[in-house]
Amino acid sequence: MAASVNHVGESFSNPNWGNDFVAVESVQELALKKPNEIPQRYIRSEDERPSSTLLPSLLTVPVIDMEKLLLPSDSNERQKEMGILSKACKDWGFFQVVNHGIPHSLIDRMRGVANEFFSLSLDEKKMYAPQPGDAQGYGNMFVVDEDQKLDWGDLMALALTPKTLVNLTLWPSTPSDYRNTLESYTTQVEKVAQMILSLFAENLQLKNDYFKEKFGEDPMMTVRMNLYPPCPRPDLVLGLSPHSDGGGITLLLQDDQIEGLQVHKNNEWIPIQPIPYALVVNIGDLIEVMTNGIYKSIEHRAVTNKEKTRLSIAMFYNPGLEDEVAPARNLIDEEHPSLYKNFKHQEYIRYYMAKQLNGKKSLANFAKICE
Ligand code: OGA
Ligand code: NI
Repeated sequence: MAASVNHVGESFSNPNWGNDFVAVESVQELALKKPNEIPQRYIRSEDERPSSTLLPSLLTVPVIDMEKLLLPSDSNERQKEMGILSKACKDWGFFQVVNHGIPHSLIDRMRGVANEFFSLSLDEKKMYAPQPGDAQGYGNMFVVDEDQKLDWGDLMALALTPKTLVNLTLWPSTPSDYRNTLESYTTQVEKVAQMILSLFAENLQLKNDYFKEKFGEDPMMTVRMNLYPPCPRPDLVLGLSPHSDGGGITLLLQDDQIEGLQVHKNNEWIPIQPIPYALVVNIGDLIEVMTNGIYKSIEHRAVTNKEKTRLSIAMFYNPGLEDEVAPARNLIDEEHPSLYKNFKHQEYIRYYMAKQLNGKKSLANFAKICE
Protein backbone atom coordinates (compact mmCIF):
# COMPACT_ATOMS: atom_id res chain seq x y z
CA MET A 1 0.00 0.00 0.00
CA ALA A 2 1.28 3.47 -0.80
CA ALA A 3 0.97 5.89 2.11
CA SER A 4 -0.10 9.44 1.29
CA VAL A 5 -1.10 12.45 3.28
CA ASN A 6 -4.41 14.10 2.55
CA HIS A 7 -5.07 17.80 2.77
CA VAL A 8 -6.11 17.75 6.41
CA GLY A 9 -2.76 16.25 7.26
CA GLU A 10 -3.98 12.75 8.06
CA SER A 11 -2.28 9.86 6.42
CA PHE A 12 -4.23 7.26 4.53
CA SER A 13 -3.17 4.24 2.54
CA ASN A 14 -3.93 3.96 -1.12
CA PRO A 15 -4.29 0.22 -1.57
CA ASN A 16 -3.43 0.70 -5.24
CA TRP A 17 -5.73 -1.82 -6.82
CA GLY A 18 -3.36 -2.04 -9.72
CA ASN A 19 -5.52 -0.60 -12.45
CA ASP A 20 -6.05 2.72 -14.00
CA PHE A 21 -9.62 3.13 -15.02
CA VAL A 22 -10.56 4.59 -18.37
CA ALA A 23 -11.98 8.10 -17.90
CA VAL A 24 -15.45 8.53 -19.37
CA GLU A 25 -17.70 11.48 -20.04
CA SER A 26 -20.16 12.58 -17.36
CA VAL A 27 -23.59 11.19 -18.24
CA GLN A 28 -25.20 14.14 -16.50
CA GLU A 29 -23.49 16.47 -19.02
CA LEU A 30 -24.40 14.19 -21.88
CA ALA A 31 -28.05 14.08 -20.82
CA LEU A 32 -28.17 17.90 -20.57
CA LYS A 33 -27.36 18.10 -24.27
CA LYS A 34 -30.52 16.07 -24.93
CA PRO A 35 -28.92 14.12 -27.77
CA ASN A 36 -31.23 12.95 -30.55
CA GLU A 37 -29.14 9.88 -30.85
CA ILE A 38 -27.54 7.95 -28.04
CA PRO A 39 -23.78 7.52 -28.52
CA GLN A 40 -23.00 4.02 -29.72
CA ARG A 41 -21.00 3.12 -26.63
CA TYR A 42 -24.13 3.20 -24.46
CA ILE A 43 -26.29 1.11 -26.75
CA ARG A 44 -26.57 -2.46 -25.54
CA SER A 45 -26.81 -5.58 -27.63
CA GLU A 46 -30.39 -6.75 -28.03
CA ASP A 47 -30.16 -9.50 -25.45
CA GLU A 48 -28.99 -7.01 -22.81
CA ARG A 49 -31.56 -4.28 -23.40
CA PRO A 50 -34.34 -3.76 -20.87
CA SER A 51 -37.42 -5.30 -22.37
CA SER A 52 -40.67 -3.43 -22.05
CA THR A 53 -42.65 -6.27 -23.59
CA LEU A 54 -42.40 -8.52 -20.53
CA LEU A 55 -45.59 -8.88 -18.55
CA PRO A 56 -45.29 -7.39 -15.08
CA SER A 57 -43.90 -10.05 -12.77
CA LEU A 58 -46.08 -11.51 -10.05
CA LEU A 59 -43.03 -11.93 -7.86
CA THR A 60 -41.97 -9.33 -5.33
CA VAL A 61 -38.87 -9.17 -3.18
CA PRO A 62 -39.68 -10.04 0.46
CA VAL A 63 -40.06 -7.23 3.00
CA ILE A 64 -38.64 -7.65 6.51
CA ASP A 65 -39.91 -5.66 9.48
CA MET A 66 -36.87 -5.13 11.68
CA GLU A 67 -38.98 -4.17 14.69
CA LYS A 68 -40.43 -7.66 14.81
CA LEU A 69 -36.91 -9.07 14.98
CA LEU A 70 -36.26 -7.09 18.15
CA LEU A 71 -39.06 -8.93 19.98
CA PRO A 72 -38.15 -11.60 22.58
CA SER A 73 -36.71 -14.70 20.89
CA ASP A 74 -39.62 -16.96 21.89
CA SER A 75 -42.26 -14.68 20.38
CA ASN A 76 -44.19 -16.21 17.49
CA GLU A 77 -44.09 -13.02 15.54
CA ARG A 78 -40.31 -12.92 15.69
CA GLN A 79 -39.97 -16.57 14.71
CA LYS A 80 -42.23 -16.01 11.72
CA GLU A 81 -40.21 -13.00 10.60
CA MET A 82 -36.94 -14.95 11.02
CA GLY A 83 -38.45 -17.60 8.72
CA ILE A 84 -39.26 -14.98 6.08
CA LEU A 85 -35.73 -13.63 6.37
CA SER A 86 -34.20 -17.09 6.01
CA LYS A 87 -36.25 -17.83 2.91
CA ALA A 88 -35.43 -14.41 1.42
CA CYS A 89 -31.70 -15.09 1.86
CA LYS A 90 -31.91 -18.55 0.31
CA ASP A 91 -34.38 -17.90 -2.52
CA TRP A 92 -33.70 -14.29 -3.39
CA GLY A 93 -30.42 -13.02 -1.96
CA PHE A 94 -32.42 -9.77 -1.68
CA PHE A 95 -34.95 -8.26 0.70
CA GLN A 96 -36.23 -4.84 1.76
CA VAL A 97 -35.98 -3.75 5.39
CA VAL A 98 -38.51 -1.42 7.01
CA ASN A 99 -38.44 -0.07 10.58
CA HIS A 100 -34.65 -0.27 10.58
CA GLY A 101 -34.35 2.57 13.07
CA ILE A 102 -32.38 5.02 10.93
CA PRO A 103 -34.10 8.39 11.41
CA HIS A 104 -35.93 9.52 8.27
CA SER A 105 -34.56 13.00 8.79
CA LEU A 106 -31.01 11.63 8.47
CA ILE A 107 -31.97 9.74 5.30
CA ASP A 108 -33.42 12.98 3.87
CA ARG A 109 -30.21 14.81 4.72
CA MET A 110 -28.06 12.08 3.21
CA ARG A 111 -29.98 12.19 -0.05
CA GLY A 112 -29.90 15.97 0.10
CA VAL A 113 -26.10 16.27 0.29
CA ALA A 114 -25.58 13.55 -2.34
CA ASN A 115 -27.91 15.40 -4.74
CA GLU A 116 -26.28 18.73 -3.98
CA PHE A 117 -22.87 17.34 -4.80
CA PHE A 118 -24.05 15.96 -8.15
CA SER A 119 -25.59 19.34 -8.96
CA LEU A 120 -22.22 21.14 -8.71
CA SER A 121 -20.50 22.15 -11.95
CA LEU A 122 -18.47 19.51 -13.72
CA ASP A 123 -15.25 21.39 -12.94
CA GLU A 124 -16.03 21.34 -9.24
CA LYS A 125 -16.87 17.65 -9.27
CA LYS A 126 -13.71 16.82 -11.17
CA MET A 127 -11.69 18.06 -8.21
CA TYR A 128 -12.72 14.78 -6.64
CA ALA A 129 -11.58 12.51 -9.48
CA PRO A 130 -9.81 9.30 -8.40
CA GLN A 131 -6.04 9.32 -7.96
CA PRO A 132 -4.12 6.89 -10.19
CA GLY A 133 -4.60 3.32 -9.03
CA ASP A 134 -7.31 4.19 -6.50
CA ALA A 135 -10.99 3.39 -6.74
CA GLN A 136 -12.34 6.32 -4.75
CA GLY A 137 -13.80 9.55 -5.96
CA TYR A 138 -16.07 10.95 -8.67
CA GLY A 139 -15.98 8.98 -11.90
CA ASN A 140 -16.81 5.57 -13.24
CA MET A 141 -14.62 2.94 -11.61
CA PHE A 142 -15.46 -0.08 -13.71
CA VAL A 143 -14.43 1.07 -17.15
CA VAL A 144 -11.31 -0.98 -17.81
CA ASP A 145 -11.45 -1.30 -21.56
CA GLU A 146 -11.76 1.33 -24.33
CA ASP A 147 -14.41 -0.74 -26.16
CA GLN A 148 -16.56 -1.68 -23.19
CA LYS A 149 -20.26 -0.67 -23.22
CA LEU A 150 -20.93 2.22 -20.86
CA ASP A 151 -23.54 2.63 -18.15
CA TRP A 152 -26.01 5.51 -18.25
CA GLY A 153 -25.01 6.85 -14.84
CA ASP A 154 -22.39 8.78 -12.88
CA LEU A 155 -20.99 7.77 -9.54
CA MET A 156 -19.17 8.90 -6.46
CA ALA A 157 -17.41 6.18 -4.44
CA LEU A 158 -15.70 6.62 -1.06
CA ALA A 159 -14.09 4.39 1.55
CA LEU A 160 -15.75 4.94 4.96
CA THR A 161 -13.93 2.56 7.30
CA PRO A 162 -11.31 1.68 8.44
CA LYS A 163 -9.80 5.14 8.94
CA THR A 164 -6.60 4.13 7.17
CA LEU A 165 -8.50 3.85 3.88
CA VAL A 166 -10.40 7.10 4.20
CA ASN A 167 -9.10 9.79 1.89
CA LEU A 168 -10.76 12.97 3.11
CA THR A 169 -9.36 14.89 0.14
CA LEU A 170 -12.07 13.19 -1.89
CA TRP A 171 -14.91 13.93 0.52
CA PRO A 172 -16.67 16.94 -0.96
CA SER A 173 -16.35 20.17 0.99
CA THR A 174 -19.48 21.46 -0.78
CA PRO A 175 -22.14 21.17 0.51
CA SER A 176 -20.53 21.95 3.86
CA ASP A 177 -22.51 19.31 5.75
CA TYR A 178 -21.60 16.52 3.31
CA ARG A 179 -18.93 15.00 5.54
CA ASN A 180 -20.84 15.15 8.82
CA THR A 181 -23.93 13.73 7.23
CA LEU A 182 -22.06 10.89 5.56
CA GLU A 183 -20.34 10.08 8.86
CA SER A 184 -23.61 9.98 10.80
CA TYR A 185 -25.28 7.92 8.11
CA THR A 186 -22.35 5.47 8.07
CA THR A 187 -22.59 4.94 11.83
CA GLN A 188 -26.29 4.16 11.55
CA VAL A 189 -25.98 1.82 8.57
CA GLU A 190 -23.10 0.00 10.25
CA LYS A 191 -25.39 -0.84 13.20
CA VAL A 192 -28.09 -2.18 10.90
CA ALA A 193 -25.53 -4.23 8.96
CA GLN A 194 -24.18 -5.79 12.16
CA MET A 195 -27.67 -6.61 13.33
CA ILE A 196 -28.52 -8.26 10.02
CA LEU A 197 -25.34 -10.34 10.11
CA SER A 198 -26.13 -11.58 13.61
CA LEU A 199 -29.62 -12.57 12.40
CA PHE A 200 -28.05 -14.46 9.48
CA ALA A 201 -25.80 -16.30 11.94
CA GLU A 202 -28.77 -17.19 14.13
CA ASN A 203 -30.75 -18.50 11.16
CA LEU A 204 -27.77 -20.58 10.02
CA GLN A 205 -27.27 -21.93 13.54
CA LEU A 206 -23.84 -20.42 13.80
CA LYS A 207 -22.69 -18.47 16.87
CA ASN A 208 -24.50 -15.11 16.85
CA ASP A 209 -21.21 -13.26 16.53
CA TYR A 210 -19.84 -15.60 13.85
CA PHE A 211 -19.80 -12.99 11.06
CA LYS A 212 -18.77 -10.24 13.43
CA GLU A 213 -15.67 -12.28 14.23
CA LYS A 214 -14.97 -13.15 10.62
CA PHE A 215 -15.37 -9.54 9.48
CA GLY A 216 -12.50 -8.79 11.87
CA GLU A 217 -11.48 -5.82 13.97
CA ASP A 218 -11.61 -3.45 11.02
CA PRO A 219 -14.53 -4.19 8.72
CA MET A 220 -14.29 -2.27 5.49
CA MET A 221 -17.20 -0.07 4.53
CA THR A 222 -17.54 1.81 1.28
CA VAL A 223 -20.27 3.87 -0.31
CA ARG A 224 -21.26 4.22 -3.92
CA MET A 225 -23.67 7.00 -4.83
CA ASN A 226 -25.22 6.42 -8.22
CA LEU A 227 -26.89 9.17 -10.25
CA TYR A 228 -28.92 8.06 -13.25
CA PRO A 229 -29.96 11.06 -15.40
CA PRO A 230 -33.05 10.77 -17.62
CA CYS A 231 -32.32 9.00 -20.90
CA PRO A 232 -34.12 9.73 -24.19
CA ARG A 233 -33.96 6.00 -25.08
CA PRO A 234 -34.21 3.95 -21.85
CA ASP A 235 -35.06 0.95 -24.03
CA LEU A 236 -31.51 0.85 -25.44
CA VAL A 237 -29.28 1.46 -22.42
CA LEU A 238 -28.61 0.25 -18.87
CA GLY A 239 -28.00 2.52 -15.87
CA LEU A 240 -25.78 -0.10 -14.26
CA SER A 241 -24.54 -3.32 -15.88
CA PRO A 242 -25.65 -6.68 -14.46
CA HIS A 243 -23.40 -7.68 -11.56
CA SER A 244 -23.36 -9.29 -8.16
CA ASP A 245 -21.86 -7.19 -5.37
CA GLY A 246 -18.33 -8.26 -4.49
CA GLY A 247 -18.50 -7.73 -0.72
CA GLY A 248 -20.35 -8.92 2.38
CA ILE A 249 -23.77 -7.28 2.39
CA THR A 250 -25.07 -4.18 0.63
CA LEU A 251 -27.62 -1.80 2.12
CA LEU A 252 -29.07 0.36 -0.61
CA LEU A 253 -31.22 3.40 -0.37
CA GLN A 254 -33.03 3.64 -3.65
CA ASP A 255 -35.20 6.50 -4.80
CA ASP A 256 -38.50 6.59 -2.90
CA GLN A 257 -40.58 6.89 -6.04
CA ILE A 258 -38.65 6.04 -9.16
CA GLU A 259 -38.16 2.39 -10.03
CA GLY A 260 -34.86 1.30 -11.51
CA LEU A 261 -33.28 -1.61 -9.64
CA GLN A 262 -34.02 -5.08 -11.02
CA VAL A 263 -32.96 -8.52 -9.77
CA HIS A 264 -32.44 -11.57 -11.92
CA LYS A 265 -34.59 -14.47 -10.79
CA ASN A 266 -36.04 -17.43 -12.70
CA ASN A 267 -34.65 -15.91 -15.87
CA GLU A 268 -36.69 -12.77 -15.39
CA TRP A 269 -35.64 -9.25 -14.46
CA ILE A 270 -37.83 -8.34 -11.51
CA PRO A 271 -38.13 -4.67 -10.44
CA ILE A 272 -37.79 -3.83 -6.76
CA GLN A 273 -40.68 -1.51 -6.07
CA PRO A 274 -39.60 1.42 -3.94
CA ILE A 275 -40.92 1.57 -0.38
CA PRO A 276 -40.25 5.02 1.10
CA TYR A 277 -37.28 5.00 3.51
CA ALA A 278 -36.76 1.23 3.22
CA LEU A 279 -33.28 -0.21 2.77
CA VAL A 280 -32.79 -2.79 0.05
CA VAL A 281 -30.39 -5.38 1.41
CA ASN A 282 -28.57 -7.92 -0.70
CA ILE A 283 -26.10 -10.73 -0.19
CA GLY A 284 -22.67 -10.12 -1.67
CA ASP A 285 -20.23 -12.69 -3.07
CA LEU A 286 -18.35 -13.02 0.24
CA ILE A 287 -21.43 -14.04 2.23
CA GLU A 288 -22.18 -16.59 -0.49
CA VAL A 289 -18.70 -18.03 0.14
CA MET A 290 -18.96 -17.86 3.95
CA THR A 291 -22.34 -19.62 3.95
CA ASN A 292 -21.02 -22.24 1.52
CA GLY A 293 -23.61 -21.22 -1.06
CA ILE A 294 -26.67 -21.49 1.22
CA TYR A 295 -27.18 -17.74 0.75
CA LYS A 296 -26.50 -16.53 -2.75
CA SER A 297 -25.35 -13.27 -4.19
CA ILE A 298 -27.77 -12.43 -6.96
CA GLU A 299 -27.24 -10.64 -10.20
CA HIS A 300 -28.91 -7.25 -10.43
CA ARG A 301 -28.85 -4.18 -12.66
CA ALA A 302 -30.33 -0.69 -12.92
CA VAL A 303 -32.44 0.66 -15.77
CA THR A 304 -33.19 4.28 -16.62
CA ASN A 305 -36.28 6.29 -17.57
CA LYS A 306 -37.15 9.21 -19.83
CA GLU A 307 -38.29 11.80 -17.34
CA LYS A 308 -36.55 11.70 -14.02
CA THR A 309 -33.12 11.61 -12.47
CA ARG A 310 -32.76 8.72 -10.03
CA LEU A 311 -30.33 8.69 -7.09
CA SER A 312 -29.33 5.60 -5.15
CA ILE A 313 -26.86 5.26 -2.28
CA ALA A 314 -25.28 1.84 -1.81
CA MET A 315 -23.35 1.09 1.40
CA PHE A 316 -21.14 -2.01 1.25
CA TYR A 317 -20.30 -3.74 4.53
CA ASN A 318 -17.31 -6.02 4.13
CA PRO A 319 -14.67 -7.92 6.09
CA GLY A 320 -11.32 -6.18 6.66
CA LEU A 321 -8.83 -6.26 3.80
CA GLU A 322 -6.53 -8.69 5.59
CA ASP A 323 -9.27 -11.08 6.66
CA GLU A 324 -9.49 -14.60 5.37
CA VAL A 325 -12.76 -15.52 3.64
CA ALA A 326 -13.84 -19.17 3.73
CA PRO A 327 -16.98 -21.30 4.00
CA ALA A 328 -18.02 -21.78 7.66
CA ARG A 329 -16.80 -25.14 8.89
CA ASN A 330 -20.19 -25.91 10.45
CA LEU A 331 -21.84 -25.55 7.06
CA ILE A 332 -19.61 -28.18 5.44
CA ASP A 333 -20.23 -31.90 5.72
CA GLU A 334 -20.17 -34.97 3.51
CA GLU A 335 -23.39 -34.03 1.79
CA HIS A 336 -22.36 -30.40 1.49
CA PRO A 337 -18.70 -30.28 0.54
CA SER A 338 -16.91 -26.97 0.47
CA LEU A 339 -17.88 -25.16 -2.75
CA TYR A 340 -15.32 -22.36 -2.55
CA LYS A 341 -11.62 -22.01 -1.89
CA ASN A 342 -10.29 -19.82 0.93
CA PHE A 343 -8.76 -16.47 0.09
CA LYS A 344 -7.78 -13.15 1.56
CA HIS A 345 -10.46 -10.49 1.07
CA GLN A 346 -7.95 -8.18 -0.55
CA GLU A 347 -7.11 -10.72 -3.26
CA TYR A 348 -10.72 -10.88 -4.30
CA ILE A 349 -11.13 -7.10 -4.49
CA ARG A 350 -8.14 -6.89 -6.77
CA TYR A 351 -9.61 -9.53 -9.03
CA TYR A 352 -13.13 -8.04 -9.01
CA MET A 353 -11.93 -4.48 -9.71
CA ALA A 354 -9.77 -5.47 -12.66
CA LYS A 355 -12.82 -6.67 -14.59
CA GLN A 356 -15.82 -4.93 -16.02
CA LEU A 357 -19.04 -5.72 -14.14
CA ASN A 358 -20.23 -8.98 -15.57
CA GLY A 359 -22.92 -10.90 -13.74
CA LYS A 360 -21.51 -13.46 -11.33
CA LYS A 361 -18.44 -14.29 -13.38
CA SER A 362 -15.93 -12.88 -10.87
CA LEU A 363 -17.00 -15.19 -8.07
CA ALA A 364 -17.36 -18.22 -10.33
CA ASN A 365 -13.92 -17.79 -11.88
CA PHE A 366 -12.09 -16.76 -8.75
CA ALA A 367 -13.37 -18.89 -5.90
CA LYS A 368 -15.72 -21.62 -7.07
CA ILE A 369 -14.36 -25.15 -6.76
CA CYS A 370 -15.27 -27.11 -9.87
CA GLU A 371 -16.15 -30.73 -9.37
C1 OGA B 1 -24.78 -0.98 -6.76
C2 OGA B 1 -26.16 -1.25 -7.24
C3 OGA B 1 -28.34 -0.41 -7.80
C4 OGA B 1 -29.07 0.88 -7.98
O1 OGA B 1 -24.45 0.21 -6.57
O2 OGA B 1 -24.03 -1.97 -6.57
O3 OGA B 1 -26.48 -2.38 -7.49
O4 OGA B 1 -30.29 0.86 -7.99
N1 OGA B 1 -27.01 -0.21 -7.38
O5 OGA B 1 -28.41 1.91 -8.12
NI1 NI C 1 -24.98 -3.79 -6.82
